[in-house]
Amino acid sequence: MDSMASAPGKAILFGEHAVVYDKPAIALAINKRATITIKESHKDYTSIKSDNIGLEAIISPETGLKLKKGEIGILNYILKALEFYHDSKPIKIKLEIEIPIGAGLGSSAAVTVATIAALDKYHKRKTTLPSIAKRAHKVELEVQGAASPLDTSISTHGGLIYLNEEKKIDQIKGDLKDSLVIGYTQSEDTAKMVKLVKERMERHPTIINHIMDAIAHTTKKAKKALETNDKECLGELMNINQGLLDAIGVNTRSLSDMIYTSREAGALGSKITGAGGGGSIIAYSPNRTRKIIETLKRKGYNAMKADPSKKGVIIEH
Ligand code: MEV
Repeated sequence: MDSMASAPGKAILFGEHAVVYDKPAIALAINKRATITIKESHKDYTSIKSDNIGLEAIISPETGLKLKKGEIGILNYILKALEFYHDSKPIKIKLEIEIPIGAGLGSSAAVTVATIAALDKYHKRKTTLPSIAKRAHKVELEVQGAASPLDTSISTHGGLIYLNEEKKIDQIKGDLKDSLVIGYTQSEDTAKMVKLVKERMERHPTIINHIMDAIAHTTKKAKKALETNDKECLGELMNINQGLLDAIGVNTRSLSDMIYTSREAGALGSKITGAGGGGSIIAYSPNRTRKIIETLKRKGYNAMKADPSKKGVIIEH
């Protein structure tokens, strides 16, 4: 039976990197999605294709994986999901993706979640959101070596979530419609950035531990600011979080430029979102997103509005 599932990308508002050290984080699903369609194949190999990112690969028992077009990057996540949650029967997989790839916006988590959900439907398996999130995290861990459950959780559940110190997820309130802009470039490997922070932590444990605690306090206060819709406070906390991310070593000149450009264009707050080292920034500018996008674009950066998405993974029936 054919099957189709889609899942959203994400933006981290507070707590990236600190979340790897069991600190809380706040993230939202964004209205850009990855969609996986699986069809039966009458060939003796499995094919994986994505027109919009120019990817084509086949897998056959005789020759193994053959990458005909594109880069292995995001394909690794589909392959790992197939290895764990599919038998060896040939299938045709199509990926459509609106999320910029490799920009720290959760493209790999969205592809992983959508693949697992589509495979569950294809195999007529009973599935639940916690089970999809758990298995998607397992795939990310296998491919990346290190990953918190944040990206896969938000992509599965959607909405605006607070991940607490015990890795429990709570949906929280927050009015972020028409407020967020994402500026993006190609990012560094998440695993590389996580390792870089770990090495700085090993060199300066007391200092970096204090910074991680300060990020945790910022995140907790931001949760309150979101719930009470205290816009000025939320923006200021984003700027504080940015200073702390700079201190742990994940900022770059172009991220800084995007951050200050958006503040000068009127954003109440702006910071790196995701792993840093390249990648993306998020700017908070309620009802004035257009001006920020135009200013970033004028300086040659990619920029888009990111509206929150209530919807997590969707399995088409
Ligand atoms: C990457 O989107 C966020 C990091 O905190 C890594 C992770 O949580 O796995 C940098």
